[in-house]
Amino acid sequence: MCGIVGYIGTQKASPILINGLIRLEYRGYDSAGISTIEKEGLSIMKDQGRVKNLYSLDGINNLEGTIGIAHTRWATHGKPSKENSHPHLDNSKTFGVVHNGIIENYNELRENLNKKGYTFYSETDTEVIPNLIHYYYTKEAKKDLSGFLQAVKNACSELKGSFALEIICKHYPDNMIVVRKDSPLVIGKGENENYISSDIPAILSFTKNFYLINDLEYCILSRNNAQFYDKDLNPIKKETKSIEWNASSAEKDGFEDYMLKEIYEQPIAIRETVGARLFENSKCTFDELNFTKEYLKNINKIYIVACGTAMHAGLVGKNMIEKLCRIQTEVDVASEFRYRNPLIDEKTLCIFISQSGETADTIAALKLSKEKGAKTLAITNVIGSSITREADYSLYTHAGPEIAVASTKAYTSQVILFATLSIYFAETLEVNNSSIATLKNDILELPKKIEDTLKISENVKDFAKQVYQEKDIFFLGRGIDETVAREGSLKLKEISYIHAESYPAGELKHGPIALIENGITVVGVVTDKDLLEKSVSNIQEVITRGAKTLIITNQNLDDKMFNEVINIPCTNSLLSPILSIIPLQLFSYYIAKEKGLDVDKPRNLAKSVTVE
Ligand code: M6R
Repeated sequence: MCGIVGYIGTQKASPILINGLIRLEYRGYDSAGISTIEKEGLSIMKDQGRVKNLYSLDGINNLEGTIGIAHTRWATHGKPSKENSHPHLDNSKTFGVVHNGIIENYNELRENLNKKGYTFYSETDTEVIPNLIHYYYTKEAKKDLSGFLQAVKNACSELKGSFALEIICKHYPDNMIVVRKDSPLVIGKGENENYISSDIPAILSFTKNFYLINDLEYCILSRNNAQFYDKDLNPIKKETKSIEWNASSAEKDGFEDYMLKEIYEQPIAIRETVGARLFENSKCTFDELNFTKEYLKNINKIYIVACGTAMHAGLVGKNMIEKLCRIQTEVDVASEFRYRNPLIDEKTLCIFISQSGETADTIAALKLSKEKGAKTLAITNVIGSSITREADYSLYTHAGPEIAVASTKAYTSQVILFATLSIYFAETLEVNNSSIATLKNDILELPKKIEDTLKISENVKDFAKQVYQEKDIFFLGRGIDETVAREGSLKLKEISYIHAESYPAGELKHGPIALIENGITVVGVVTDKDLLEKSVSNIQEVITRGAKTLIITNQNLDDKMFNEVINIPCTNSLLSPILSIIPLQLFSYYIAKEKGLDVDKPRNLAKSVTVE
């Protein structure tokens, strides 16, 4: 999705802005642009295509301004083009704006502004914003910074939808205004300079001290100050939050791609996420939660709500919670949940998972659950992200920044967090379950097994080379393996653009088997001992019909039956999804590499889906 960068300081802004945009490239975009305040007024440099193309724009090297705003656009309203790229200026070229989000009532605003004599040069929803600000500014009696702020506030109160905005004005070369609503934005504090960004990794090499802004809070930035205001423009105080991530964790560190690096970071991500929550001989602790036995006993249902890969982690979480705690748990896709009037009340616990903590549908589903009286718990990887500011409770995975669009280490970290959370629930409920002690031990042994799995999984590369030109690949599994098949299939389609489908293996005969023909590739996940024979016989059925098979298993299978078998280490059946997904992550990765694709930035996708 769109990315925002801003700078106000003592250095030339343009290289810093472009550098920041390059670090936001992973979010997905189709055009880029910057605007700085120069002696002559606002500069504007933008175009469709890659950020690096900005370097070849006429005059870009002559920019001297030390304040500027920048943007990568992911087209929503209007095709990717120079005209539709941000920043956008008002008709008088007084105000420059970059915007992340969607203005839902832009048509109506545009018509009103048209009637007032404003002209529009793009098809975007954003262009109404600088013009609205201009309109209100001209009506303001005070032509000073407070008048500028008031004009921004008046404009924002007309906007319906979501927005993160950076606004500069040619009359105020020492200030910038930022505001957000339902769209991410952070401010990084430096020495006599301030940075603005859609997310922390983009400016991590400049500062580790961040101001987190809440919805409809305004900030006037100067070189050495950040003054915040609430929605009614009353001044408010904010402290910076220091972020532990180091800048190198957002670099490739010698790996060819972020995705590969992140796949290989899974042992450490799991270790960090389990952290001090779990020890072999003591109760599992979550200082962030104060759930009593009474409260957990009275829960009528747990909902786990998320999107994409995070939802797949939720499916594994459901299995854990139901098996260990016997609490009914449902998993739902956020974009469906929020529109189907779900049955929730004050006895429902709703858990929301989001790596970024900024996914629009997940946040909206959380808000809905709160309105209906449910307790809400967010699981995210990003400190201070929007979701943590809405939820009653927040738990962090400690996977470190995940840059590749395809989620890998965030998924396995979410799954391990569910394992520890389920133990915490079970122990609080005083469930008499002897398997908990074993599970704790198995969790502590897992990072080493992930390292072993990574080594073994490299064998999948040869099979990837054989099948990378396929048009369709099917994924099968039963029980918990079916959730892994789903995640494997999503990973493959995301980065290789191969049509991939996953099915519960038992469903084959009810339709999908009609698609199996000579030479088709089928991936089977077989780790559930209790369902072993059934899974194998389903795979046998596709082999009989000519399928090539890749099998991920920790069971003793006859390797000769299949084209490729990846034998992963055995672990607790609740944890097996963390190991069995690894060869599938690498399978997708090597297929995409064979096809020569941009693994980290697949087409049409964005890392952080901040609009619905
Ligand atoms: O940031 P979130 O975890 O809320 O993102 C949810 C999905 O958009 C995300 O998992 C998506 O499916 C990934 N690209 C999967 O690799």
